[in-house]
Amino acid sequence: MASIGLKKVKKSYGAAHVIKGIDLDISHGEFCVFVGPSGCGKSTLLRMISGLEDITDGEVVIDSEVVNDIPAADRGLAMVFQSYALYPHMTVRQNLSFGLENIGTPKAEIETKVAEVSAMLQIDQLLDRKPKDLSGGQRQRVAIGRAVVREPRVFLFDEPLSNLDAELRVDMRGEIAALHKRLGNTMIYVTHDQVEAMTMADKIAVLRLGALEQFGAPLELFNNPINLFVAGFIGSPKMNFIEGTIDDNNVNSLTLATGEAIAIPSDGFNQVSGQKVTLGIRPKDLQPKPDGSLQMEVRTVEQLGTESYLYGRLADGTGITIHSAGQTTVEPGEMISVGAAEKTMHLFDTESGLTLRAQ
Ligand SMILES: Nc1ncnc2c1ncn2[C@@H]1O[C@H](COP(=O)(O)OP(=O)(O)OP(=O)(O)O)[C@@H](O)[C@H]1O
Ligand SMILES: [Mg+2]
Repeated sequence: MASIGLKKVKKSYGAAHVIKGIDLDISHGEFCVFVGPSGCGKSTLLRMISGLEDITDGEVVIDSEVVNDIPAADRGLAMVFQSYALYPHMTVRQNLSFGLENIGTPKAEIETKVAEVSAMLQIDQLLDRKPKDLSGGQRQRVAIGRAVVREPRVFLFDEPLSNLDAELRVDMRGEIAALHKRLGNTMIYVTHDQVEAMTMADKIAVLRLGALEQFGAPLELFNNPINLFVAGFIGSPKMNFIEGTIDDNNVNSLTLATGEAIAIPSDGFNQVSGQKVTLGIRPKDLQPKPDGSLQMEVRTVEQLGTESYLYGRLADGTGITIHSAGQTTVEPGEMISVGAAEKTMHLFDTESGLTLRAQ
């Protein structure tokens, strides 16, 4: 086990500042997930922690030791990549043994470890095969096994499941979670997948343009996003955003560009008269209601049997998504009234993007 600290960590490639000073503390045994749009710096940050990438400025600390100048091989970390990165000419057994042979582990000990790990990951029947004769899921298990045999202090995963089909991802997700439980190691896991992030993480770090936007438990981020970006990024389908202006003589009323007025809560918020605010409502919290204060033109209806989605827009073109349990009788082309309970609403200052929830 190991804790990891990032202190004002920066990375530049010439004039391009791709990591802009990140502070982050990951505790012993924590499962931390990095999420963020493509190109925001997730892989770069992971590689800086691993030692595969130099640190331009700041410090990476593992168990209170600054490791900036310690080579990757000596940091006690193991990384698993999206591409598996197995040696194609070696058998599974050789792929698993190679790292240990390199550091002079006695042969008998290597055999014991390979046997243990391959049994744990259910690849013990495949030890004499080459990677080309394995399925994607089996290859990924070998890649994970190769990391596990080294008994690293920390596991670093860079989108390890993104090449697998949906069903295998669910299986492997369970296996990685079980591995974390069994070994108790600190793990950092990069993913684009909302479900992986929400279900596997103890803590999620949301990155954007090389900066950390918010760090917290999955439901903390979902329920109390610090700004519009996190609110829009965490949760699928995405939160609806509706812009308006707080009425001059009533902070509990928001007037939209469409002229419609919506009652909004003031309890726990700190909006002021005349302020431009963005109302956030999750698709599951917005529902068709005869007395709803918003008029929505439904353009697309998706019926999945146990749940349904309505996609449409308000009169000013603002896109709206509604997610309901069960089946719907609404059809494309209909105009419907929709509304949400006040307690489910989020409010953000439109200009700064910051949440208006008084902490
Ligand atoms: N060697 C390099 N020289 C210049 N820029 C680079 C270099 N390597 C990466 N970058 C830039 O750094 C930024 C962060 O890249 P990174 O691979 O960390 O993103 P990411 O969040 O992992 O994206 P993805 O989700 O697509 O994997 C990108 O804008 C990328 O173009
Ligand atoms: Mg990446």
